[in-house]
Amino acid sequence: MDGSIPDLRYMPQDAHDRFIPIVMAGIKRRNGMPGFADGGENYPLVNTKMTLEDANAIHAYLIDMQWKAYEADQKRLSGATAAK
Ligand code: HEM
Repeated sequence: MDGSIPDLRYMPQDAHDRFIPIVMAGIKRRNGMPGFADGGENYPLVNTKMTLEDANAIHAYLIDMQWKAYEADQKRLSGATAAK
C-alpha cells in the first residue's frame, strides 16, 4: 500500500496471518502503522499498553465486520444481477 490507511473490513489473508505482529509489534511501522504493545511511546495520551487479549478481541471484531461487509456486498451484487 502507498501510505493510505486500509479499510480493515477488506483485509487480505496475509494481514490476518500477521495481525499480531502488525498490531502489537509494529512490523509496518515504517509505513505509518504503529505497534500498540508499547502504548504511550506512540501516543502521549494513551497510557495503557495493548495486551494480546485486546489485540485478539479487536481481531475477532474485525472478522465479524468483514463477514458483515461480505454479506452486504453479496446482497448488493445479487440485487444488481436481478435488476438486469
Ligand atoms: C486498534 C487500532 C488499529 C488496528 C487494529 C490496526 C490494524 C492494522 C492492520 C491489520 C493493518 C494491515 C492491513 C493490510 O496489510 O491490509 C494496518 C495497516 C495500516 N495502519 Fe493500522 N491499525 C490500527 C490503528 C492505526 C492507526 C492509529 C494508524 C495511524 C496513526 C494506522 C495506520 C495504518 C497504516 C498507514 C497502514 C498501512 C500500512 C502499510 O501500507 O503497510 N493504523 N493497520
